[in-house]
Amino acid sequence: MLMAKLFQNFLHWLNGVKAPVTDAERIIASPDDTVKLKVTLRQGHISYSVTKGESTIIRDSKLGLKIKNLPPLADHLSIVRTTEKSVGETWETVWGEEHFITNNYNEVAYYLSETSKANRLFTLRFRVFNDGIAFRYELPPQPAFSRVEIEDELTEFNVDLNSDSWSIPSYQPDRYEYNYEKKPVYELEKAVHTPLTIILPNKYHIAIHEAALYNYGEMSLKLDEWKALKSDITPLSDGVKARTDLPFNTPWRFIMIAGSPIGLTKNRMMLNLNDPPTSDFSWVTPIKFLGIWWAMYVGEWTWASGPRHGATTEHAIEYIDACRRLGIQGLLIEGWNGGWDGDWLLNGKTTDFIHPMPDCDLPGIAEYAHQNEVEIIGHHETVGFVDNYESQLEASYKYYSDLGIRYIKPGYAGSMMFIQGKREYHHSQLGVLHYQKSLELAAKYHICLDVHEPIKGTGIERTFPNLLTREGARGQEYEGGALSPSHACILPFTRLLSGPMDYTPGIFDVTNTTKRLSSTLARQLAYYVTIPSGMQMAADRPRFYEEVNPGAYKFIHDVPVNWERSVPLMGAIGEYYVVAREERGGHNWFVGGVTNENSHKVRVALDFLEEGATYTAEIYRDSEIAHYRDNPLDIRIETTTVTKNNFLDIWMAPGGGFALSLKKNAQ
Ligand code: NOJ
Ligand code: CA
Repeated sequence: MLMAKLFQNFLHWLNGVKAPVTDAERIIASPDDTVKLKVTLRQGHISYSVTKGESTIIRDSKLGLKIKNLPPLADHLSIVRTTEKSVGETWETVWGEEHFITNNYNEVAYYLSETSKANRLFTLRFRVFNDGIAFRYELPPQPAFSRVEIEDELTEFNVDLNSDSWSIPSYQPDRYEYNYEKKPVYELEKAVHTPLTIILPNKYHIAIHEAALYNYGEMSLKLDEWKALKSDITPLSDGVKARTDLPFNTPWRFIMIAGSPIGLTKNRMMLNLNDPPTSDFSWVTPIKFLGIWWAMYVGEWTWASGPRHGATTEHAIEYIDACRRLGIQGLLIEGWNGGWDGDWLLNGKTTDFIHPMPDCDLPGIAEYAHQNEVEIIGHHETVGFVDNYESQLEASYKYYSDLGIRYIKPGYAGSMMFIQGKREYHHSQLGVLHYQKSLELAAKYHICLDVHEPIKGTGIERTFPNLLTREGARGQEYEGGALSPSHACILPFTRLLSGPMDYTPGIFDVTNTTKRLSSTLARQLAYYVTIPSGMQMAADRPRFYEEVNPGAYKFIHDVPVNWERSVPLMGAIGEYYVVAREERGGHNWFVGGVTNENSHKVRVALDFLEEGATYTAEIYRDSEIAHYRDNPLDIRIETTTVTKNNFLDIWMAPGGGFALSLKKNAQ
């Protein structure tokens, strides 16, 4: 029965086939005809290259898959047929940096078969956009095999080796939490994560990344023995890259192409390459939240039980009251659950995600939060012990859901995952499958996630908008010595190309001696605009907002988390970045700017504002003598009236930044 069905699929697949073609060349152009992808089939090998205008972006690069115990699916290929499609559409997001996104591309799918005896089939689907190219491998069900073990992916991205690149290393104990390094591509001998941002000698800026990562190991990139930049798929502990039944599609491999760094930040290919949601996600609400959190980092409270335990009923009630007074919608509570007490790693195997510690009356807290219209963000630190977590996954989501808790921050702080009794990389196929499972289950319980130590962003929040944010880079928890001001000026052009990030902004206690920040106070406000996130933390303790600096807090109160449109204004990787965003469903605009350890003066033209309207501008900027090292708290807050014909000259101190709120006046 099954074989008959497979055979039918096979026939359908071959439908319309004329004589197979063994040598061919074809150019697929973008809708505006500027990006051209050339597909070449020569002597049974398939490859691609890319140009933009007259400039080479990618030189001829191999494609193919290696299937375990079989010859590579890369030789003796012939084209059985091709199909074409053009798409031009605009779609509405549930939340995010843009309300509406345009998706415009030309697609050609190559249906390939082997001329050798094996006669296996696969499809290579290419899409060419005005600002990049994408492709993926598709394996249909077929008589020769119904299940595969992928041993390697042979995809190359042959860029000029003399290009510069910005990267973080793969296969490291702290996952994505590293400082970015600028290196020529010829030095990428060890694997690096994507998005990999590259500046070609011809000055085109590109970023190589993947979209819709499901059921497969994450793709890193590294130079192979022929000095070609090649995909490096995270292996499982036995070396296999992925095991799967057919049909199977790899994630999309894609290359964003822009004329400048700021151009890259406008690229929306990643979301366009993901599918729309299949059910209603209108229940998803982006929020700002306080946390029983930074007090632990600065040593006032502890995650563990004891006299300074943070997650007590008393502290939670105190913070819920603060949320109400400060106009913040949610409260994260970490360290509430039994078993995760003391040594994280040692506890990881047995952590209990359902029973609170004795001094934490979670049902009572949830009830109090509910009465005060404050959301609780539940917390699950798994330390990577996925087996233990999965044994309680549904019960723990149900527990939260029964208490009316609709947000969870899960964490995977270990250096490896423990899955199915084995030590696996976070980003292996099994890690990816766990991530997917938790997201689907969360959707079932109408729970939104803020995943720490996550799988990198590949745009799956389009399909699962309940994935409101993730960490997946060095965030402010690394302050106190391990963050330099340039980091936040690199993120917009690297990590943030893969989607929203929980950077935990809003630390006002900048000069704390345990966790001294490499930031001015004004810069802490800028992050709410420069680092978009569907869940945005006001990460400091409430007294710093209410008592120490209520004037600066006003910006955190006013800034939205959901945007109508985003207008990146200027930036240079590692140097500075300025972006303007319009509130979703409103008329107010917000601007954020950050600089590295050097001061930077910018002229912000307000021409994105509405014609004929006036706005009240609140400017939060560094004073003329501010400096992140010795004078970080010196902030100036000024109010003025502006129109779209004005510009503002703003000086950012070393390690500083600025925030602007532009509220439209009634006419
Ligand atoms: C690491 C996370 O990044 C951090 O936010 C969290 O507080 C700790 N793990 C504990 O779960
Ligand atoms: Ca982390």
